[in-house]
Amino acid sequence: MTQSDPQDLNLYFAELEQEARQAASALSTPEAVEEFRLVWLGRKQGKLKQLSDSLLKSAAPEARREIGQRFNALKSVVESLLEDAAGAGPSDSALAAEAIDITLPSTRGLLGAEHPITRTMNEIVQVFAALGYSVGVGPEVETDFYNFESMNFPPGHPARDTQDTLVIANQERRPLRDRLLLRTHTSPVQMRTMEQQPPPLRIVIPGKVHRNEADDATHSSTFHQVEGLCVDTNITFSDLKGTLDHAMKALFGSSVKTRFFPSFFPFTEPSADVQISCIFCGGKGCRRCKQSGWIELLGCGMVDPAVFAFAAEKQPGYDPKKISGFAFGMGVERIAMMKYGVSDIGQFFSGDMRFLEQFA
Ligand code: DAH
Repeated sequence: MTQSDPQDLNLYFAELEQEARQAASALSTPEAVEEFRLVWLGRKQGKLKQLSDSLLKSAAPEARREIGQRFNALKSVVESLLEDAAGAGPSDSALAAEAIDITLPSTRGLLGAEHPITRTMNEIVQVFAALGYSVGVGPEVETDFYNFESMNFPPGHPARDTQDTLVIANQERRPLRDRLLLRTHTSPVQMRTMEQQPPPLRIVIPGKVHRNEADDATHSSTFHQVEGLCVDTNITFSDLKGTLDHAMKALFGSSVKTRFFPSFFPFTEPSADVQISCIFCGGKGCRRCKQSGWIELLGCGMVDPAVFAFAAEKQPGYDPKKISGFAFGMGVERIAMMKYGVSDIGQFFSGDMRFLEQFA
C-alpha cells in the first residue's frame, strides 16, 4: 500500500473494519467483550494504537488528513461495536448456562409470630390495663434487699435458701442486702415502684424470674410472672376479690368462678390462693383438676404494713395508717398451659418450630 493512494487506503481500512465487525459479532461473554476492547483499543498494544504509530505518525504531512479521517472513522466504528456488545447482555447460551427457571415459585420468607408466653403475658397485662393499671418492669438481676428483705422475708425463710435462689457468685464481702441474685419473683418491683411513685398506685409488672428448680413437665427454672399492686385510701379485700374475679373471667371466660383460700406470703396479710373452677370439666371433677373441680392459679393478699413501712422510708405517703392496698402474682406459663392445652412446660423453651408454628 502506498500511503498516498486513496484506493489502497480505502481497501486497507475497509478490511480492518470488516475484521472488527466479525470479531464483535462473536462476543458472548463479558470477558470476551473486554478482550475485544483490549485488542482494538488497548492503549499500549491495541490495533488502533499500532495503526496510529505506524501509519499516522509517519505519514507525509499532505497525506495525514486523509489517513486521519479514515482512522477516526474506524475508531468510532470499533467504539460503537464495543458499546453494542457491552450493552447487549449475556447471550442466550450464557443465560441457559445460569439456569434460572423464572417459572419456579419463590423461596417463602418466614413471618415471625408472638411467642405463646409473650402473647399470654400481654393478654393478662391488657386485662388490667383496661382497669386503669399502668405497666412497669424491673431488673432480672436483683439485690437481696428488694427481692427478700423489703418484701418482709424474715432471715432464714426457706425461700431465701440457696436451694431456691440462684445467687451471683463472689459477693461474700458485700453486706447481705446488697448481694445480687436472679430475682425469684416479680414482687421486688412492687417496692421499686412505690419508691418512685407516691400513692395512689395501680400497676402490673410482667417479667422473667428464676429459681433453682429441677425441670419437669410443670416446672422450669426460668419462668414468667405478672405481678399486680393497687394502693389507695380504703382499699379492701373485697376490691381484691372483685378485681381478680373479673380478671379470671376476662382471661378464661365469663362462666368461670373463683374462690379464695387462706394462704401465707410474707408480704401480704391476710394472704390467699385463688382457685378458678376447672375450665376443662366446668367444675364437675376430672383428671386435670384432680377430681376437685377447682384449679389453683395465683397468690394474692392485702399488702403487709411492714412492706409499706419500707416504702415509706423513701415515700412518706405510704403510711399504713392512711392507705391500704392489695397485691397479686401469677405464673404466666401455668395460665398459658391451661389456655392452650400444653402439657409440658419445656415446650415453651424448646424453640421447636413445630410447636411454635401452631401459635402463628
Ligand atoms: N411472689 C409470689 C411468688 O412468686 C406470688 C405472689 C403472691 C405475689 C402473693 C403477690 C402476692 O404479689 O400478693 O410465689
